[in-house]
Amino acid sequence: MRNGVAAVSSLAVAAAWLAPGASGARVCGATAASETFQYRFIEVRYDGPDPNKSSHLSTIAASLGTSSTPLYECVAQWPETWAGWFEGGPNIVWSDCIWTGAGSGADKTVSFAVDWKKKTVYLSHTFACSDKRGSDGLATGSLSLDFNCTTADGSSFCVPKSTSTGDRPTLRVSTTLRTTVGGGAATTPTSCQAGAKTYQSWRLDKWLRQYQMAPGSSAPDSTRPLPADTGPSFALTNLADGSAFSCAPSGQKNGTFEGTCKSAAAATGTTAAFTFDPVLNMVQVSQHWDCGDS
Ligand SMILES: *[C@@H]1O[C@H](CO)[C@@H](O)[C@H](O)[C@H]1NC(C)=O
Ligand SMILES: *[C@@H]1O[C@H](CO)[C@@H](O)[C@H](O)[C@H]1NC(C)=O
Ligand SMILES: *[C@@H]1O[C@H](CO)[C@@H](O)[C@H](O)[C@H]1NC(C)=O
Repeated sequence: MRNGVAAVSSLAVAAAWLAPGASGARVCGATAASETFQYRFIEVRYDGPDPNKSSHLSTIAASLGTSSTPLYECVAQWPETWAGWFEGGPNIVWSDCIWTGAGSGADKTVSFAVDWKKKTVYLSHTFACSDKRGSDGLATGSLSLDFNCTTADGSSFCVPKSTSTGDRPTLRVSTTLRTTVGGGAATTPTSCQAGAKTYQSWRLDKWLRQYQMAPGSSAPDSTRPLPADTGPSFALTNLADGSAFSCAPSGQKNGTFEGTCKSAAAATGTTAAFTFDPVLNMVQVSQHWDCGDS
């Protein structure tokens, strides 16, 4: 028995079905880790919880691009005490970066995560491979930032420290190809045990959630339950081994939706499940491998 868990903010999910402006495909190379990609964090800002609100959510927002033009806007929110980790545990919270439309990106999805204790930003992106028809590449990278924080009236905000000449620092992050999946290029694990131990990453597509809003009402206030909320349904792809699932809610416990994910291929021996917290707007996915060794 093996388990893999990923915490994903659903903000990230929206980007998947907004169909970001992916243009030309990228070379994925003969071997993973042979290709690197460059991005730039144009602006980064952390805001501590608003003392006048009871949510205690921290917000980190970043603009991402290849030049000085923002191609993606990344926003993450989590309770301050989590410091970027789901319930303060071992799973970092990934959030989506939304394509701005100001130019064409080469990515299908872009996500980021922040380890606020270590002041490290992680970047993950997926893209079509030009050299492996029908397959997608996944690349990841990280960047440590030096923040300058200011506190006033009980609230705090932080921005990257300026350089010794008082200029804004240039924040470049380099990502490395981790794996390719699909188009016959999936890295098929040699055994169930090996597969469960490889680097795990999941992609969410086809996000669907419905709820009722009165005509003329303003944007939903996620701190209150929404009427006739169906909870989310979505497609899940494991980017380590290509296994695909279709996920739907099965019930609700204490306001949190619970759901199961059905494997597209019968009898793979792996199962997946999820929870969705509508207040935090966050989905948590877990995959379980039955390797027959427990
Ligand atoms: C909180 O509310 C007080 C009083 O209304 C106001 O003076 C202060 O600016 C508010 N703080 C923030 C961070 O909005
Ligand atoms: C830190 O922030 C303060 C106030 O916003 C500013 O005056 C100062 O120059 C900043 N220092 C650095 C190193 O960025
Ligand atoms: C139910 O949710 C409330 C509010 O989110 C929380 O305070 C409480 O601890 C939860 N109870 C259980 C049993 O999880």
